[in-house]
Amino acid sequence: MAQLWGGRFTEETDALVYRFNASVSFDRRLLEEDIEGSIAHAAMLGRQKIVSQEEADAMIAGLAAIREDVRRGQLTVTDVYEDVHSFVEAVLTERIGEAGKKLHTGRSRNDQVALDMKLYTRKVIRETRGLLQNLLETLLSLMEEHLDTYMPGFTHLQKAQPLTLAHHLGAYFEMFKRDVLRMRDIEKRMNTCPLGSGALAGTTYPLDRAYVAELLHFDGPTWNSMDSVSDRDYLIEYLSAAATVMMHLSRFSEEIILWNSNEYQFVEIADAYSTGSSIMPQKKNPDIAELLRGKTGRVYGALLSLLTVMKGIPLAYNKDMQEDKELTFDAMDTVKDCLTLFDGMLGTMRFCKDTMAKSAVNGFTNATDAADYLVGKGVPFRDAHTLIGRLVLYCIEKHTSIDALSLEELRAVSPVFEADLFEAVSLETCVEKRLTTGAPGKKAMRDAIAAGRAFLQEEKKY
Ligand code: ARG
Repeated sequence: MAQLWGGRFTEETDALVYRFNASVSFDRRLLEEDIEGSIAHAAMLGRQKIVSQEEADAMIAGLAAIREDVRRGQLTVTDVYEDVHSFVEAVLTERIGEAGKKLHTGRSRNDQVALDMKLYTRKVIRETRGLLQNLLETLLSLMEEHLDTYMPGFTHLQKAQPLTLAHHLGAYFEMFKRDVLRMRDIEKRMNTCPLGSGALAGTTYPLDRAYVAELLHFDGPTWNSMDSVSDRDYLIEYLSAAATVMMHLSRFSEEIILWNSNEYQFVEIADAYSTGSSIMPQKKNPDIAELLRGKTGRVYGALLSLLTVMKGIPLAYNKDMQEDKELTFDAMDTVKDCLTLFDGMLGTMRFCKDTMAKSAVNGFTNATDAADYLVGKGVPFRDAHTLIGRLVLYCIEKHTSIDALSLEELRAVSPVFEADLFEAVSLETCVEKRLTTGAPGKKAMRDAIAAGRAFLQEEKKY
């Protein structure tokens, strides 16, 4: 056991209490951030003459050496220390002596951990955005490739109107685009530096908080020291955005599972992203897509857990907040893995164009267009709707489709039908005539793709 706070105590900490209280087993992942923050703090202490320049230099060199040794695997953060902060300070003092004991001047672990979590979250947000960008890129390429790949569009999981695979994928492009924007937005809002807030009430040392904020690439220091040490809003915002990413991945995974089923056969997931059965030799299961759908639960859980942890905490820091870490780290890892895996699965999947097109012509997906045809001939839409409904019923009885009927059969329902009906309700016409902004017609789709490309280009610069 190695603690920073032994002075006031006369008895040993109970072993279970020590384990229960310690956070090193999971906050060791903040080592890089902890050192980065400490280097900035030490540089400021020297600059403000709170410690001598030599002492500051010794601290900075010592901290950098610890970082290097840990990176190289020559030093490990062990359970001997209560948390990562104690580990760094203890090793530093061991190595550089007296100067190491001055590192914590004008600082508390409360503002230190607040800083570490912000730095770490900012990094993860950037990584997540990068992974979302990759997925958007994959989607755009597939959209360009599948402008002519016809498929049925569904409402209520019933065939509704024909569209293209490009259009269907485009819907997900928009969802993940919003996810990217949400991530960007969180970063903007959270980018203020809590260091220098002390335990809760700032400090009497002449700290230069603006300088530290600048060194750590924040927009500036936070404005209330109590809020600084007890704010975890940015984690809740991240988890909320992450939960939304997972919801999108899960919906898409669900569709892929359906499409990959023996009944649909719209797609075939690559072997690399499928698994087999231990008993049924014929099986190739979409386990990865199912796991992606399942993992959504743990990310939702993390969001709800943290909201619950935070809801009863009086100002300012309370130890409850240590509970922010494990669940947030787990959610962060999960989202990053899921985005990477999903992108790989999507990029290697085979799309069975013929099956999709065949499915698009079955199921009366052209019924709306047949009604619109009658409208074009002067029939009021409500009457046209009824007439085509009757026609559909007739087709169901005869096991046929609208476009396979003879002109005579059509005219028995309405004399308005002419030979140009067949052209008007063909799959190509049904899709290509839909040219309103955001519709699946090729020209409209090309505009959407161009807008998507422009967004992605802008996003990569950001
Ligand atoms: N391990 C603590 C956490 O994660 C660090 C801050 C501890 N501060 C304190 N006063 N006990 O929140």
